[in-house]
Amino acid sequence: MRAPTRRRRTALMAAGVLIATGSGTAAAFTATNASAASDAAAGCSVAYTVQSQWNVGFTAQVTITNTGPAVTAWNVGWSFAGNQKVTQGWSADIAQTGAAVTAKNLSYNGSLGTGASTGFGFNGSYSGTNTSPTAFTLNGVACNGGTPTTPPTTPPTSPPTDPPTDPPTTPPTTPPPGTRVDNPYAGAKGYVNPEWSAKAAAEPGGSRIANQSTAVWLDRIAAINGVNGGMGLRAHLNKAVTQAAGQPLVIELVIYDLPGRDCAALASNGELGATELGRYKTEYIDPIAAIIADPAYAALRIVTIVEPDSLPNLVTNAGGTAGSTEACATMKANGNYEAGVGYALHKLGAISNVYNYIDAGHHGWLGWDTNMGPAAQGFLKAATTGGATVNDVTGFIVNTANYGATTEPFFKITDNVNGTSVRQSKWVDWNYYVDEQSYAQALRTLLVTTGFNSNLGMLIDTSRNGWGGTARPTGPGATTSVDTYVNGGRTDRRIHLGNWCNQSGAGIGQRPTAAPATGIDAYVWVKPPGESDGASSLIPNDEGKGFDRMCDPTYTGNGRNGNSMSGALANSPLAGQWFSAQFQELLKNAYPAL
Ligand code: GLC
Repeated sequence: MRAPTRRRRTALMAAGVLIATGSGTAAAFTATNASAASDAAAGCSVAYTVQSQWNVGFTAQVTITNTGPAVTAWNVGWSFAGNQKVTQGWSADIAQTGAAVTAKNLSYNGSLGTGASTGFGFNGSYSGTNTSPTAFTLNGVACNGGTPTTPPTTPPTSPPTDPPTDPPTTPPTTPPPGTRVDNPYAGAKGYVNPEWSAKAAAEPGGSRIANQSTAVWLDRIAAINGVNGGMGLRAHLNKAVTQAAGQPLVIELVIYDLPGRDCAALASNGELGATELGRYKTEYIDPIAAIIADPAYAALRIVTIVEPDSLPNLVTNAGGTAGSTEACATMKANGNYEAGVGYALHKLGAISNVYNYIDAGHHGWLGWDTNMGPAAQGFLKAATTGGATVNDVTGFIVNTANYGATTEPFFKITDNVNGTSVRQSKWVDWNYYVDEQSYAQALRTLLVTTGFNSNLGMLIDTSRNGWGGTARPTGPGATTSVDTYVNGGRTDRRIHLGNWCNQSGAGIGQRPTAAPATGIDAYVWVKPPGESDGASSLIPNDEGKGFDRMCDPTYTGNGRNGNSMSGALANSPLAGQWFSAQFQELLKNAYPAL
């Protein structure tokens, strides 16, 4: 959780691009105390990087680039100069006899076309000096014809002569599997979901965002193995390993199948009934955990977005308020949201490369003190239920699948017009925050005071909160009244802050970015742009999804949106299905513009 740098953003934006590591470039990735060596020849080049080293052990990363004809299987060999021993490897099958090591591809990463790279890593033990090998073979053929070079003891100060097109500029921070980093997004690429990417790329203009990282939604039990022949969890993780090519990579999984899901709305009701906690555990969380725990995925940074909307619904919609529903009251009374979230945190948090982020609504939901305090208490309760502890929680996410602006540039909560606070404007309505980032930062502070760890990191879903295009204000509103001031200056053009379904006028927001602001681990795209929030009319389906009139543009609202028009786009398909017209509008209104 450090201050933003252009560099990190660049690294993250290289999502899915294989880093072509050529001769001499490994040094660009090494830390000050690391050693590096690389090798090149007609058929292959190998970059061997010691990423971290301690008195008796080390972690190394090996990237191979095939500069010869395509191969369908690879076997990389080298000999250690000292007494190094490989103790644990990932993304390759590694064997050692004496000083000689061979690393063979696994079932999913054997193909290496001309110019393609792939990587694997391992932990090793040593004593004395840990000299990096410099001579390698690929399928029995030497990668270099020349004399091994001595690895530099300090990183070169001059730039590599043949830099990769978009090298990570911060050193890799991957520790040995088993150790979490503070911010998983720092110095990491993001997983590009090939299925979403293909849909985006097929839209006119869509290729401008098709290589961005978006989350994988495990929105039903069947999604674990893949729905309708689509990719399941293993297929995504295997692909993520390939995309990682030996570098740190974050893949985001949305855990979204609680009993009685989406209790305050109907559009994303799920398959499990209010009492089916047992099925949630054994048919949903357990199988997910079993797959994620496969050592083949140990080098991935697996971010989980835990159960959007569930705990916030218990705070505001479970009794006593205008927006309350019977379904939420039921879930509060039976405790199955908290029990399910606690179980998920505990089970997934036990896997050392998993980073759990709990959903924390958005500023237009929990941004009143009367909601935020109880929300923090509720989060702590869930995070200490079912075996979970606060150590299972890396952080929280705000604005998941919502439309709140990251920052409002033209008014702030402390402004007043002729002595009247903006908090008294109709739009702000006594909220304490005007945007998602100020909410996320304040919530973070509150959560730490409440009992969560002090290194908590926040995520903001910026996939659809851009609010650019011709309707975007270019300066503050007129100071005639607090309402003209706020309404004239706000970039969030929704009819009401409580509107959430396929919002008319919205645009693509900030691109995924690591460590953009204090306390914020990343801007992320959790809701994949182009996927509907809900159907605008009743569509029969077998997913449990209902028809929520908040997705109907003719609806005049309810207690949760101040009885305002829904602001939804017309003719929308079921939640999660591709909505081309919305995708086009999001591109058009992107901010920053594409
Ligand atoms: C909604 C849908 C879900 C989908 C997700 C992402 O929550 O209910 O099925 O996966 O959005 O688009």
